[in-house]
Amino acid sequence: MSDKKALLTVDGIDGAIEMPVLSGTLGPEVVDVSRLTGKGLFTYDPGFVSTAACESKITFIDGAKGQLLHRGYPIEQLAQQSDYLETCYLLMNGELPSAKQKKEYVDTILSHTMVHESLVSFFKGFRYDAHPMAMMCGVVGALASFYHDSLDINNPEHREISAHRLIAKMPTLAAMCYKHSTGQPFMYPDNSRSYSENFLHMMFGNPCESSRIDPIVAKAMDIIFLLHADHEQNASTSTVRLAGSSGANPFACISSGIAALWGPAHGGANEAVLNMLQEIGDESRIDEFVKRAKDKNDPFRLMGFGHRVYKNFDPRSRVMQGICDEVFGAMGVEHDPLLKIARKLEKIALEDDYFVEKKLYPNVDFYSGIIMKAIGIPTDMFTVIFATGRTAGWIAHWNEMISNPYKIGRPRQLYTGHTQRDYTPLDQR
Ligand code: SDX
Repeated sequence: MSDKKALLTVDGIDGAIEMPVLSGTLGPEVVDVSRLTGKGLFTYDPGFVSTAACESKITFIDGAKGQLLHRGYPIEQLAQQSDYLETCYLLMNGELPSAKQKKEYVDTILSHTMVHESLVSFFKGFRYDAHPMAMMCGVVGALASFYHDSLDINNPEHREISAHRLIAKMPTLAAMCYKHSTGQPFMYPDNSRSYSENFLHMMFGNPCESSRIDPIVAKAMDIIFLLHADHEQNASTSTVRLAGSSGANPFACISSGIAALWGPAHGGANEAVLNMLQEIGDESRIDEFVKRAKDKNDPFRLMGFGHRVYKNFDPRSRVMQGICDEVFGAMGVEHDPLLKIARKLEKIALEDDYFVEKKLYPNVDFYSGIIMKAIGIPTDMFTVIFATGRTAGWIAHWNEMISNPYKIGRPRQLYTGHTQRDYTPLDQR
């Protein structure tokens, strides 16, 4: 930690207010403003554009360089050489597992893939056309009702088994959401398969025949989970941390993260990208939509472009772009018109002054939706896939917070409402 100081002078307050400047291992230094309250002042930063809400060792993003590190390892290397469950282990424990540790971890996760049979009844309560994210918010929060024996958040063993249960059961629940919408029977996990292959088996298999999953598609699915695993203090992870700071159980916290992720400005963007590409419909209409995206009076934004932190290419979208051709080839959809529109849209946007000046590059959601569509995943399941992958990051951040000293999150405000006034009786209004 540096012994640097920041001095703040405020009209009407005698003398300068001295505040510590803290430095991490990477990234900008931070000014510790906690003593401002004692001076009768708050900071004001809607959207937390320049606010560090916590200290963390899990993930680092350099938006200018388009760099994403998980416990120091570049996302490109993890996507190339690791797999999703190994990345889950890394995010949670801070180091890559040895071969023995990895086998034990994978076996542990696979031993938790089933859900309590009573959860089947929960799905019977949803309409056939319920949005899968609505179902996921409900059933993930409801998991807490099955594990009363391990909800003591101050017990490291309870935190660990909850993390294992959540990572293991998210694919099972996600597949159940999909099966509910098709009217097909739920598929039990087949633990002889890898994590991602098991998910595709539960999604697309049926009890009448054995399902053969193309290894290329299973690998692509695993990379999609891996690329979505964590992304420092994004909106949904910050929601999980805030919920967790009240002492809520991990299932409730992850359910709050799912709810936050659903928004089209966040994890809902992959679904919105596909809807946008389908609305564009033809390459000849791309200019019309780019024009709308630049029009201040038009709320339309080019979904899949822009990012709060990345002012360069999102490294995850580069990896996605790379696997596109392989997956399309394996699924025989290499000439998919939406992919052609996406590629053309990307080219036009990256050459347009508006997008260049505002540094709006394709983000993780731009290509992930196209790949998931090629795999045969319905559009309304895209954010569920995102939530499944991001569960690793959410639970790692939750665990990091709870296993260190923390305070309940309680932001303040700039109040601009009425000053005190007396109640006006009804007969005088
Ligand atoms: C994810 O935080 C994370 O890490 C998120 C995520 C993760 O892994 O958790 O990376 C996942 O959420 C990726 C983002 C997915 N969302 C989208 O693709 C939706 C489209 N993008 C925009 O809504 C927007 O870019 C955001 C929400 C992603 C970022 O918004 P910011 O940081 O608040 O940026 P901004 O709104 O301040 O935009 C800066 C300028 C604005 O113009 P001016 O007011 O300066 O004139 O850029 C414009 C915006 O109008 N702009 C866009 C645009 N994105 C920003 N204009 C057109 N199309 C867009 N997509």
